[in-house]
Amino acid sequence: MNPTTKELVRYAWLAAEINRHDIAYYTLARPTISDFDYDQLYRELRDFEEHHPAHRLPDSPTARVGAPPLAEFRQVAHRQRMESLDNTYNPAEVGAFLARVQKTLGDQPVSYLIEPKVDGVAVSIRYEHGALALGLTRGDGTQGDDITENLKTIRQLPLTLAGAPEVLEVRGEVYMTHRAFAKLNREREEQGAESFANARNATAGTLKLLDSRAVARRPLAIVLYGVGEVSPGHGFDSQTATLARLAALGFPVPEWHPQAAGPAAVLAAINALDHQRQHFTYPTDGAVVKVDDFAARATLGSTAKAPRWAVAYKFAPVRAATCLHAITFQIGRTGVITPVAELEPVYLSGTTVRRATLHNADEITRKDIREGDTVIIEKAGEIIPQVIGVIQEYRPPTTEPFDFAARLAELGLDAARAPGEAVWRLRQPTREQQIRALTHFAAKPCLDIASLGPAMAETLVTAGLVTTPGDLFTLKHEQLILLENLADKSADHLLAGIAAARHRELWRLLHALGIPNVGAQTARDLAKHFGTLDTLANATYENYLQKKIGKQGQTLKAEESVIPGIGATVAQSLLTWFNTPAHRALLEQLRAAGVNFTVPPPAGGGTGTGQRPPPLAGKTFVITGILTQPRLHFEARIHALGGEVRATVGQKTTYLLAGVDPGSKLKKAVQLGIPILDEAAFERLTGAA
Ligand code: IVH
Repeated sequence: MNPTTKELVRYAWLAAEINRHDIAYYTLARPTISDFDYDQLYRELRDFEEHHPAHRLPDSPTARVGAPPLAEFRQVAHRQRMESLDNTYNPAEVGAFLARVQKTLGDQPVSYLIEPKVDGVAVSIRYEHGALALGLTRGDGTQGDDITENLKTIRQLPLTLAGAPEVLEVRGEVYMTHRAFAKLNREREEQGAESFANARNATAGTLKLLDSRAVARRPLAIVLYGVGEVSPGHGFDSQTATLARLAALGFPVPEWHPQAAGPAAVLAAINALDHQRQHFTYPTDGAVVKVDDFAARATLGSTAKAPRWAVAYKFAPVRAATCLHAITFQIGRTGVITPVAELEPVYLSGTTVRRATLHNADEITRKDIREGDTVIIEKAGEIIPQVIGVIQEYRPPTTEPFDFAARLAELGLDAARAPGEAVWRLRQPTREQQIRALTHFAAKPCLDIASLGPAMAETLVTAGLVTTPGDLFTLKHEQLILLENLADKSADHLLAGIAAARHRELWRLLHALGIPNVGAQTARDLAKHFGTLDTLANATYENYLQKKIGKQGQTLKAEESVIPGIGATVAQSLLTWFNTPAHRALLEQLRAAGVNFTVPPPAGGGTGTGQRPPPLAGKTFVITGILTQPRLHFEARIHALGGEVRATVGQKTTYLLAGVDPGSKLKKAVQLGIPILDEAAFERLTGAA
């Protein structure tokens, strides 16, 4: 049935309204609506689109979730050449650049803008009649890859513009925040996937994915600092005006871009940036100095390679030499073994470095890193220090090449390396791994057994009461009260939590099992697709990937995913996991205990499907500074809406509520890229304003 005019008008309004809230939330970090109300609008929009797919607007917010995968990227010519800049580490070259510019422009005073050099991937995005039409990589400067669908998934990037020129090409940098990058790598290491060397590589790798639905799950961000074709072009006649216009249109722009005239002021600004940059959310590895006035830029022109009106100055990476005492192993939840350099502590731009990841066995071999070596560690745009190499001349005569396999054997770790995999993985769980697996099993996004944290898991494993998560369901009150330090009441709590865990949704159980490469989202997708754990457990490779059929009906070599976003790696991982006898035994143990294996779970329990979570569920607040009401008032409001309040800012903080005179918590939140709410924003978020 066709929608009524009234429904169509409502739908167009919903799309515009959600796009507006997205800018407020993702770009301005000033939400204008509570999460709960936002979800209602989004659901209504999605319902409409499900019923009337033909009427779906191309700029609908649902475009953010990605589109079907592409076979390859289309090559598209840039309407205006996309230039790049040469980098220099030498302040004298910045001086020479300023002198050249002044010479060409004669006596007129020249004003410059100094911007952070964002360490990401350059893109150009074209809007036509206010709608995002095309997104390209730089490529060779004359043509790039069409990555429109991938770019649309970036929440900060407006899909529509109000009051923009008919044609507007914006240019900038796609990046990952330090925090998002660290989280992504942690997850990859846990899943046994190779970690990215730095945030820039992670960004580039993500933009190259042909499946934009997979891109949508990666935490990309964007900042815009320039324009290409603009028609009509008035209002874009200087860098200052351009940044102001872009910000007014809803684009994120560099928040720090002082103006300077003359070499002394320019160099002072570059210096100031070096101190500021640790507070930016994006990795910043230098400064870009740009002539502000566009008419002056036209006079200066370009060389074959780069414009004459800008220069990129890179901060030298900070390095230190220190002794590598030992190589130890860290064992992840899924048994992945990551080698770690235990270093003689050394102070490096703001922090004392004691340990650094060595990534994997190949990395150690490639760099021939040995215990006892003097190594060079480096902190560049990224925050995590890297071991970049060994000083051969300082190598003591007694060192020996590091033998990964022999060391594993020495430590009694039974591990194997799958063909083609970069990582070694434990074959048998150790006590430490059992504790981790149990803690994960009971964690909030898994089976959510509140009183079973790491300490309780350790107690249960050490006492020999639990070796696999399945053993939990056999625990008895009489056994628990024999444990030291465990009160009657705690035993009751634990048993009640375990009982409730039997009724959780299937995806939570899947996530809880700790199958390599299966995170919460993949678990959701699998549960939705297969419906029951048994169907999933008995699936074959063909249930995940199928050979493509050509136009003439012939079978092609290429494979395509049956379940969007689930490719060969996840499929292999699931097949291996379910084909491991110990895992089959675990499933039987869980089945016997009455744990839910289906979607939706039988009525009567748990975190419940259908039941709406409270609006601030899962959100953690930290409060700082002087507010208009006592702190207790805000704490009570947050608790009433299902949120939590913590004393210190950390990775898990969702929002910082900041009053007057906020102090160091604000600084920490800025460093970690945590959204900061003032009282007005807090009121809006909680829906009271
Ligand atoms: S302007 C024609 N501004 O760094 C000049 N570039 O090393 C276009 N970059 O190619 C670039 N931050 O990919 C400009 N604030 C900024 C930048 C920036 C990062 C990138 C860009 C450029 C490279 C130069």
